[in-house]
Amino acid sequence: MSPGGGIAETASERQKAAAARAAAELVAEGQRVGLGTGSTVAHLLPALAARGLGGLRCVATSPATATCARELGLVVVELDELGALDIAIDGADQIDPRGWLVKGGGGAHTREKIVATAARRFVVIASAEKAVPALGPPVPLEILRFGAHTTLAALAPASLRYAAPSPEDNPIADYLGPIGDPKRLSTRLSTTPGVVEHGLFAPELVSDILIAHDDGIEHRRGGKPA
Ligand code: 5RP
Repeated sequence: MSPGGGIAETASERQKAAAARAAAELVAEGQRVGLGTGSTVAHLLPALAARGLGGLRCVATSPATATCARELGLVVVELDELGALDIAIDGADQIDPRGWLVKGGGGAHTREKIVATAARRFVVIASAEKAVPALGPPVPLEILRFGAHTTLAALAPASLRYAAPSPEDNPIADYLGPIGDPKRLSTRLSTTPGVVEHGLFAPELVSDILIAHDDGIEHRRGGKPA
């Protein structure tokens, strides 16, 4: 935060805001819109509200996003009221050249993956620092409270985030081992009993990746047709 209480005007924040504004332009009147979670999405919400589009119905991936969206006048409903979404927009912690993502820095990746899957078009917005040559740890995990330490022992090295449960109040942890092939690790994490969801998102989930640089927006296409 800046001394005045607003978001500090760093290059990274300027880039997040630019990517968020570009994504807000992709939303059309009457659409069902999935809203992600995090500091990049914090720029998206006012940009979307400022467009004044009629008939939007939004689904939030966290209580923080729901509160902020409602305060800005956006209509927020439950995903099950809509079933499917026209578009969803979210941030990412890491983006590799093939379009694999690591998400869940904010612990909301289970809801985010459900929303990304329910969306016909899933748009990722990010500052330039999120684009990496290869994914690395940590990979966020949502796990069941029952046997949490046993679950993590099976995935060692991994550590529990004590102060930050998921929106469903499940513990959040981080897998800290090497990633190697993200598809193989994805399968290993998904098949470990006690893991509710992990933060690796496959390219097939993603339609567009908007990466903001100081001199403009880089638009990468994902594996899900827009
Ligand atoms: C939250 C997420 C966020 O999208 C991710 O952590 C990026 O956050 P930020 O925009 O604050 O850098 O996955 O669960």
